[in-house]
Amino acid sequence: MPRILAVGIATLDIVNRVPSYPREDAEVRALSQRRSRGGNATNTLVILSQLGHSTAWAGVLPVEADSDLVLADLALHDVDVSAVARPPAGKLPTSYITLSADSGSRTIVHYRDLPEYGFPDFDEMELQGFDWIHFEGRNLAELKLMLEKTRRLGIPCSLEVEKPRQGIEALFALPDLLLFSRAWVLAQGFDSPERFLREGIGTGPAFLAWGAQGAWCRCTDGEILHARAPAVEVVDSLGAGDVFNAGVIHGLLQGLPLQDVLTQAVKLASAKCGREGLVI
Ligand code: FRU
Repeated sequence: MPRILAVGIATLDIVNRVPSYPREDAEVRALSQRRSRGGNATNTLVILSQLGHSTAWAGVLPVEADSDLVLADLALHDVDVSAVARPPAGKLPTSYITLSADSGSRTIVHYRDLPEYGFPDFDEMELQGFDWIHFEGRNLAELKLMLEKTRRLGIPCSLEVEKPRQGIEALFALPDLLLFSRAWVLAQGFDSPERFLREGIGTGPAFLAWGAQGAWCRCTDGEILHARAPAVEVVDSLGAGDVFNAGVIHGLLQGLPLQDVLTQAVKLASAKCGREGLVI
């Protein structure tokens, strides 16, 4: 069974489902509310576990009451948390999320007061047994050291490029695979996924999910592939990008041709949008 490590965050997600996205200064009643574990890296791991991989998380989890919910969910999905840093102070990053039943959109207000996971903790880990390491694109100075070490060890790895972060492009040559988000690509001034992959920043293998239009992939030789998204009534798009990333890593570890990797990842992410939460 392939062993996968993900470096990134866990959050508390407080998700209010509302009939439609409220206008500013409105007061509306939620249709339902849930409190669940979120965070890109741990979302991706929970999916990979359900797809049959052995998973481990490297991140920071403060010692405080809300962290119990994170530990319970990761235990439920058999995610190894032995490498997690546990500072005695700090707040579990919290996302206040408004899910619109109308459109399926998820609007996130995120609060963070916690140190980032650093290279010293990563450096202490026994990494040799991992078949893949997935990194969130954050805390760039430390991330660079982690990517360099992963490269030195010859472990295949992916970098998620989701939120605009000054200077992240400088790291693009280090991972084996780049996983871009639509938000990042739009922020670079591209509104066409294919044009971005042909003309935008970065070379080498890359995947890019683009909502209802499906996803694109750039192969090592520069060829661009596309997979359409199956039609789905969007109920909850929260974490769909993290599910897509899990699907890509899963497909690559299975040794599938890239077109099949892409198609499988798109199907997985679309199916997720059709239901609440991250159980597949
Ligand atoms: C979804 C998600 C949420 C989390 C937020 C953090 O991709 O990971 O679970 O609250 O993004 O940016």
